Amino acid sequence: MLLLVLFQSPPCPAADGGSWYLLHPNIGISAMHMQLLPNDRVLIYDRTDFGTSNISLPGGKCRPNSNDCSAHSVEYDVVSNTVRPLMVLSNVWCSSGSLMPDGTVTQTGGTGDGAFVVRTYRSCDTCDWDEIPNGLAQGRWYATNHVLPDGRQIIIGGRQTFNYEFYPKTPETATAVDFPFLIETNDPDIENNLYPFVFLCPDGNLFIFANNRAILFDYVNNQVVKKFPVIPGDDPRNYPSTGSGVLLPMRVVNGTVASVEFLVCGGAPRSAFPNAFKEIFDGALDTCGRIMVSDPDPQWVMETMPLARVMGDMLLLPNGDVLIINGATAGVAGWEFGRDPVLSPVIYRTGSRIGSRFEVQTPTNIPRMYHSTALLLRDGQVLVGGSNPHDKYEFSNVLYPTELSLEVFSPDYLNSSMSGIRPVIISPMSGFNIVHGAQMIINFAVSNNLDPTLVMVTLASPSFNTHSFSMNQRLLVLDSGIVTMDPGSSNYQVPVTMPLSGSIAVSGYYLLFVVHKDVPSEGIWIHLH
Ligand SMILES: *[C@@H]1O[C@H](CO)[C@@H](O)[C@H](O)[C@H]1NC(C)=O
Ligand SMILES: *[C@@H]1O[C@H](CO)[C@@H](O)[C@H](O)[C@H]1NC(C)=O
Repeated sequence: MLLLVLFQSPPCPAADGGSWYLLHPNIGISAMHMQLLPNDRVLIYDRTDFGTSNISLPGGKCRPNSNDCSAHSVEYDVVSNTVRPLMVLSNVWCSSGSLMPDGTVTQTGGTGDGAFVVRTYRSCDTCDWDEIPNGLAQGRWYATNHVLPDGRQIIIGGRQTFNYEFYPKTPETATAVDFPFLIETNDPDIENNLYPFVFLCPDGNLFIFANNRAILFDYVNNQVVKKFPVIPGDDPRNYPSTGSGVLLPMRVVNGTVASVEFLVCGGAPRSAFPNAFKEIFDGALDTCGRIMVSDPDPQWVMETMPLARVMGDMLLLPNGDVLIINGATAGVAGWEFGRDPVLSPVIYRTGSRIGSRFEVQTPTNIPRMYHSTALLLRDGQVLVGGSNPHDKYEFSNVLYPTELSLEVFSPDYLNSSMSGIRPVIISPMSGFNIVHGAQMIINFAVSNNLDPTLVMVTLASPSFNTHSFSMNQRLLVLDSGIVTMDPGSSNYQVPVTMPLSGSIAVSGYYLLFVVHKDVPSEGIWIHLH
């Protein structure tokens, strides 16, 4: 009996999935904040008080009232693997943002001269940032944003900012609204509730996790509608004890989503932040908590990761699995406070049985700790950048130098051995426009062994990533009909229905993937409006 148990639980999980590629050796800045744009470019920025970056502003320009003539923001073009410097005027350090329904990035806050600023960026070959000096009612540093069904975004919290506000503003919503949950979850002298994990639920409420617990929040009436239990172990999961969190893939059936689940992984014990000042680096948390948000009596189910991790990122892959990537084994977020980088990502198989969900992946050789980022690209690869645990750019004679490179992690589903079962979308073309509730027919090819029962169509939102959290991240498994063979060709077609409700999918840009036997196609951009 005992022997059997031993055989069933190998002491070390296999570590051989996926591949790493260096994409760009030096984009000139450290990728502290990233947003994928609907033209497959990536908007990236760090901060204006970092010193001189490794990329100059174009045309000999300098920031006004400054002798810094280097760029602190770039647009990276995935297709051509090139970088274009952008001019950001005020300090965007540790800020937040969203890709808005019309494809404009609306970024909010920062610090110093940037705390109250709202900045917009709309991509084109010559576009640059626009700044709105007093766009916010409150200065916000380390806040979280989420797009809402009415096309505005809500901006929640920030350092010593225990309230939320909306943008764009209307006369009724010009001021900030007090939010006691942020006072209740604010550990004195530590915080542990910055960059809260915020998600729009299909019922229209916001699920908000901060520190060690969560609420369901009706932002329209400013009311807490549900309180979730404290996570077992009571450890903090938000900045500076930074873990990460995702809403697991949501399946749309007959226009509604029956179950909504949240997964939080990693973080650091409550002692870790004060200890880091004494150069004691506590081991990171090795647990994840999963909870059924939509359950009338929700309870946490805890799982143990094969690797402990603080400052990890969690990304929803197009096939519904969760990639846990970047971060450290010890310490916390903040200057010089991370130790022992975790070089191996882990894939969490969402649909597998508890106890067999984690798979350790191939390691990179570049530490990606504080101020590192990750996001899903249209081809299913994951773009990884940043890492700078220092107060300035530091390239030598320091632990963990500032990283200016971009890499991609290529999950196993992109291995050429999968090409036979990998779907290829024939139509529609990328850039397809569709309205809520409409049906579309997707034509796709699979070269061999199509199993029509193992096809699903997913929609992934392009999220804003910084500080181990991806704002606006969600993955929807769409309502789809029967897969049939197209009589005129050897291709297949599947009808799918767009979600009816803006609470399930806010208007805006999404990546649509056809997934067959867990292997996703390359995505196409669709614009839902
Ligand atoms: C960045 O610029 C600094 C200052 O010019 C230089 O010392 C350093 O080598 C550059 N680093 C990289 C990675 O290019
Ligand atoms: C692709 O899969 C094959 C078969 O499983 C494996 O031998 C190979 O190492 C993989 N290639 C990469 C680049 O991961």
